[in-house]
Amino acid sequence: MNYKEALSNPIFEIISKAAQEMGVESYVIGGFVRDFILGRDSKKDIDIVAVGSGIELALKVSELLPRKPKVQVFKTYGTAMLRFQDIDIEFVGARKESYHFESRNPVVENGTLEDDQNRRDFTINALALSLSKENFGDLLDPFNGLEDLESKIIKTPLDPDITFSDDPLRMMRGIRFATQLNFDIEEKSLQSITKNAERIKIISGERIVEELNKILSTDKPSVGFLLLYKTGLLDIILPELTALNQVEEIEGHTHKNNFYHTLEVVDNICPNTDDVWLRWAALLHDIGKAPTKRFNKKQGWTFHGHEFLGGKMVKRIFERLHMPLNQKMKFVQKMVIMSSRPIVLAQDIVTDSAVRRLVFDAGEDVDHLMTLCEADITTKNPAKFKKYHSNFDVVRKKIVEVEERDHVRQFQPPITGEEIMEMFNLKPSREIGILKEAIKEAILEGEIPNEYDAAYELLMKRAQKLGLKKIEGK
Ligand code: CTP
Repeated sequence: MNYKEALSNPIFEIISKAAQEMGVESYVIGGFVRDFILGRDSKKDIDIVAVGSGIELALKVSELLPRKPKVQVFKTYGTAMLRFQDIDIEFVGARKESYHFESRNPVVENGTLEDDQNRRDFTINALALSLSKENFGDLLDPFNGLEDLESKIIKTPLDPDITFSDDPLRMMRGIRFATQLNFDIEEKSLQSITKNAERIKIISGERIVEELNKILSTDKPSVGFLLLYKTGLLDIILPELTALNQVEEIEGHTHKNNFYHTLEVVDNICPNTDDVWLRWAALLHDIGKAPTKRFNKKQGWTFHGHEFLGGKMVKRIFERLHMPLNQKMKFVQKMVIMSSRPIVLAQDIVTDSAVRRLVFDAGEDVDHLMTLCEADITTKNPAKFKKYHSNFDVVRKKIVEVEERDHVRQFQPPITGEEIMEMFNLKPSREIGILKEAIKEAILEGEIPNEYDAAYELLMKRAQKLGLKKIEGK
């Protein structure tokens, strides 16, 4: 392979020149090199190691660039960053210690390139290309990272116990790379993750979620979640999920294993959405099932109210992992709470009013909800599989029909509360609520269309019943 091709961007010549003028060696290292060799879409950032000061090299590079871009300096960590053509270029001095990766302990001891490669997470991330004039484009690979790339192996350069204790998040990074790249984790490294799993507790929720999001964004997230499970990490990060991994039998009644079912649902949803939050909803849609599970002789196993409890659990999980508590969280909650609605609906004759209520409650998210419910079909019985899907096709068609006619997706009452108050000269009161509700109910039930005239007529009848008199001229 001609590694010089990886260095076709003019920035590398400039870095090379800057380093030469300073009399230091410089290398491009890490993900950029790995992804070039794998032929993966090159990412939007480049890591440069200087055997000397990374900050000074960054400043020098900026001087040589036509527009002299701003250099962001992180003095405590000895790193610096600048932007060139939309690419973030990060500079760091070669280290003996790897503390700069967790950006907490600013311990800095200068080292050689090999020292620095030693303290990186995986052999496939320790590959470096030289930017020095004499050997521009040479691959420096003291830990056989290239071989591991070819045999699709995730392996630490040092004893894994050392590499993982430098930064325990690396245990999750390893699992994430295995999922993204379809690689195996070398046995010793895998054992070490199992052994050190508890150490993940010192890592912030934000960093953990970043890895979870990357796993969820792959084509087959179950690969990563099974590894997280097998190593014991999942029990620590998301015990609500591992609690689903059980099958009980009482008097010949069993229930499905909702953990493996959940992972299937997550994989199923991937071809139909890139939205990581909908993928989160798939992951969490059944979490209320462990705490609500009951057995009774008549019905067998039940999970009454699991959707509602699941919705509450979503909030607790988001809080615990320091995830955003904004619209995204509300969306995941809504999906979990509504996750059985289309299923219940499709079991019966699909009436217009039931569909109208579904669209009203789900609003703009109704299509996402249908995508989730379709992914939820994991039956291995082909006849049932077909039947459930065709039921949902009927629901989807009706959603479109009902929406064209009644516009309840973003429901705006045809007569507003203010208008009602004016018509009857009322202050905000219980009556207003009753009248508004009556109009909304009549529309959802299909008794009247979602139009002003029909709503006005209904309003007059109901108001009369309440003994209200309309003000003339209003
Ligand atoms: N690195 C490390 N330990 C960490 C984080 C990063 O050793 N905890 C090193 C690896 O050599 C990695 C490089 O820093 O290749 C850059 O890190 P990062 O940008 O997070 O990852 P990439 O490997 O570039 O891959 P991706 O962008 O897909 O996360």
